[in-house]
Amino acid sequence: MLKDENNEWINVNNEVNDNKEIYNKAKNRVPKVLLSASNISISFSQYSKGLKKIVLNVVENLDLSVHEGEIVAILGSSGSGKSLLAHAILGILPGNSVLKGEMEYNGQILDQKLKEELRGNEIALIPQSVDFLDPLMKIGDQIIGDIEDEKEKEEKRKEMIKVFKNYDLREDTAYLYPFQLSGGMARKVLFSIALINNPSLIIADEPTPGLDEKSLNETLNYLKIMANEGKGIVLITHDIHAAVSVANKIAIFYSGYLIELNETKNFNKNGDKLLHPYTKALYKSLPQNGFQLFEGSQPMNIEIENQCVYYDRCNQSIKECKYSNPELTEIGNGMKVRCHRLDNTYLNNK
Ligand SMILES: Nc1ncnc2c1ncn2[C@@H]1O[C@H](COP(=O)(O)OP(=O)(O)OP(=O)(O)O)[C@@H](O)[C@H]1O
Ligand SMILES: [Mg+2]
Repeated sequence: MLKDENNEWINVNNEVNDNKEIYNKAKNRVPKVLLSASNISISFSQYSKGLKKIVLNVVENLDLSVHEGEIVAILGSSGSGKSLLAHAILGILPGNSVLKGEMEYNGQILDQKLKEELRGNEIALIPQSVDFLDPLMKIGDQIIGDIEDEKEKEEKRKEMIKVFKNYDLREDTAYLYPFQLSGGMARKVLFSIALINNPSLIIADEPTPGLDEKSLNETLNYLKIMANEGKGIVLITHDIHAAVSVANKIAIFYSGYLIELNETKNFNKNGDKLLHPYTKALYKSLPQNGFQLFEGSQPMNIEIENQCVYYDRCNQSIKECKYSNPELTEIGNGMKVRCHRLDNTYLNNK
């Protein structure tokens, strides 16, 4: 699907829109940036022994942008800051957190007030599990929400049935409680809840862990369909296969830092277009790429002081890496990397 110059979706296969001029205008239209987040840092204030207040920095200077029709995957191991970034975008960080940085949605500054207005409407979350659902409430009531106006409620109900149809869910799913759903149905319900208000930006926080291959492909396919409809998708995942199979861009998080942003097409062959030594190591650890396991684990953000976050595990480090944390550097085509060996890891492989 493409949009015309008035920002309306047009179906290019539709005879009514079979007008070369409209089609060409839409084809040449650059997709709009839906979300842009820059310099995002998140810290928590906590009390340690002796009631001394300490500040824990857990996310540092993250950048992320999502265009309409684009799937951006955030790939990173546990604790790398993926969910916190998602919660920062949705405005649901815990009360003891401090968020810094700039966010814009559709060109407007995305402050807490706007986040609350857009959450569940323009910006929706597909959570990781059915635990997100209220176990004591019927599915339909959870999807429709608390609406007093009968006419409005009926409209919402009709919308719900439409969304159910798209996911092959029967209408009477609305009358079930969460414990009565099979795993597959539960996943479809979570997608339905996210889609009921026709959001433009969807954040899917690990929608695929523990799924069998069929369910995994089905879930990824839903995301692709949403992106084809023009929605922007942030796919948070540990699963490099899932990221590579649907995303346009992949952001790699490590210890609360964005260490690489690359186009998905570069995650192929022997991975020589990948930029950061961690991304390369991750790619080479996949069974089909040689199963070369690498030692060590991601340090906590607070354990790193003025050194590269990957220094302890890196086999390409130089003296500089021990004494300074590299800046995130843009190397063209929107690709970014945080590495002192930028010239070695990228330019030599070109
Ligand atoms: N409320 C909190 N107080 C203090 N630290 C927190 C809090 N919530 C998260 N953290 C820390 O922030 C870091 C990032 O957490 P986050 O939940 O974003 O990780 P993640 O990448 O989503 O991990 P996972 O893949 O396990 O879901 C972790 O080290 C975590 O311990
Ligand atoms: Mg998480």
